[in-house]
Amino acid sequence: MDMKWWQKAVVYQIYPKSFQDSNGDGIGDLQGVIRRLDYIKELGADVIWLCPVNESPMFDNGYDISDYYAINPMFGTNEDMDELIAEAKKRGIRIIMDLVVNHCSYKHEWFQKALQDPEGEYAKYFYFVKGKDGNPPNNWRSIFGGSVWEPVPDSEYYYLHLFVKEQVDLNWENPALRQEIYKMMNYWLDKGIGGFRLDAITYLKKEEGLPSYPADAEDGLVSCAWGSLNRPGIEEFLVEMRENTYGKYDVMTVGEAAGVPADGLMPFVSLKDGYFSMIFDFSNGELDMIPPNNFWCELREWSVEEIKANLEQVYYNIEPDGWIGTCMENHDCPRVIDYMLPEAGQNFYGASMLAIMQMGRPGTPYIYQGQEIGMRNFPFASIEMYDDCSSINQYAYAKSVGYSEKEALKFVHRRSRDNGRYPFSWDETENAGFTEGQPWLPINPNHIELNAARQLRDENSLFHIYQKMIALRKKEEYQETLCAGAYRPFMMEEKNLVAYERYTEKPMEKGNILILCNFQSEDRELEIRLPVNVVLLDNYNSYEKMEGKITLKPYQAVVVLLEDTYAEF
Ligand code: GLC
Repeated sequence: MDMKWWQKAVVYQIYPKSFQDSNGDGIGDLQGVIRRLDYIKELGADVIWLCPVNESPMFDNGYDISDYYAINPMFGTNEDMDELIAEAKKRGIRIIMDLVVNHCSYKHEWFQKALQDPEGEYAKYFYFVKGKDGNPPNNWRSIFGGSVWEPVPDSEYYYLHLFVKEQVDLNWENPALRQEIYKMMNYWLDKGIGGFRLDAITYLKKEEGLPSYPADAEDGLVSCAWGSLNRPGIEEFLVEMRENTYGKYDVMTVGEAAGVPADGLMPFVSLKDGYFSMIFDFSNGELDMIPPNNFWCELREWSVEEIKANLEQVYYNIEPDGWIGTCMENHDCPRVIDYMLPEAGQNFYGASMLAIMQMGRPGTPYIYQGQEIGMRNFPFASIEMYDDCSSINQYAYAKSVGYSEKEALKFVHRRSRDNGRYPFSWDETENAGFTEGQPWLPINPNHIELNAARQLRDENSLFHIYQKMIALRKKEEYQETLCAGAYRPFMMEEKNLVAYERYTEKPMEKGNILILCNFQSEDRELEIRLPVNVVLLDNYNSYEKMEGKITLKPYQAVVVLLEDTYAEF
């Protein structure tokens, strides 16, 4: 099989503000990333997705860009960025940038010019719409809460913002805007970046006429998703963007593509002519939320059976010609150990089982900074300590529908994006090796026990499980099977067992790989009728071979090479 480089790659996501500070201002920066490149190389990742580093007033931590060509001085200079690309390249690592083009910052010069002349050329880069009888143009609710409309001062117009009001939606219907975006993308591509992660990309197309819909909550508003998420016509923008930019380069692209149902994946992720190289599979990322509103005060119970069903759905819909990005964490979610495991599994075994479950899947894996050492949620003592705008808005919403401050804070503890955004725990020193100054968000006191330095020294640590799984994916004899081989669920009817086979020829043949994850706090007996099977990795180190009757311990996970065929199951 002829695989593209990014099909064999493992991506490491960096949230620059919290990764490594190099100048003592308490904020991570590009020189800090350069300093830690060898760590990422040691893990085995060969691509870095860098969350936004462009100039920005940081209302949404960089997802509000005010100058697409400049690096935010908080993170360094354009020369630092060139240096990072070059230093990474020396180590065989490519840098992919976060491309935030559904919206820009209100400080961007286009918006500033638009404000000066709400009927002029630059207003057409945005959605400037007249209100109706003193009310906003429609009843859509912003993703971060409140109306999507904000009055344009001294005019009858409102402007549209699907996220916070400092993030102004760009009008993709305007060809002049689209050309400006393509020009900017090619500027970075020409610098030799490895590609883009495309932020909020399925929001580009808005429903014609921006209609109101029936309200869906007590605030009288309705989720903006109905009129803005993955709407028909978006494909024209995405194809045009690809043809004018990354389609001409040997780079990878990954879409943050909310709202794409499993049976609608292929146009986005086809290896032949997808809009992108891949999109993230988020199907198991928000099992506890109820879409489209995803209010943190309305979380639901879920079960391991849903994880299995979602995995099956995704691969059923994309095999054999589609590709997917697999992830368990990013800068928008809680830590996976806290989110996916009950208390009894929140330990090395549970964490390493999750690692094996993800890294054994087909597609390109994404590891979020700290995931590889099992960093945990960090509940701050008061809402004032939170930086994340969605935490602040969700807290306010919970209170507005009658929850007490204490209850509202509990929802934030569970779901806050700051759980993944507080500084990286490098070592046991006072500021966790992150900074010599005052860190911009608190350091988790658990860094004394839980830190990268310690895990590097311990060859049985979670870090080394990730490292070994990456090494298996890179090993010539398993690479094709583990990266691009097909996915077949195994023993689906066994409750709390996530098991699947990876194969390149026929299922259940020699040379295939079986992954077993005992997703429960009890032992599990299984009858494996396979003649000779070598265990490639086992988080308990208890098996070398798997045959006959076996017992999986709580949260035990094994990677088994099928050395012979077997007849029945
Ligand atoms: C994406 C980003 C998130 C950001 C939002 C608005 O979902 O991952 O961090 O807040 O887009 O840009």
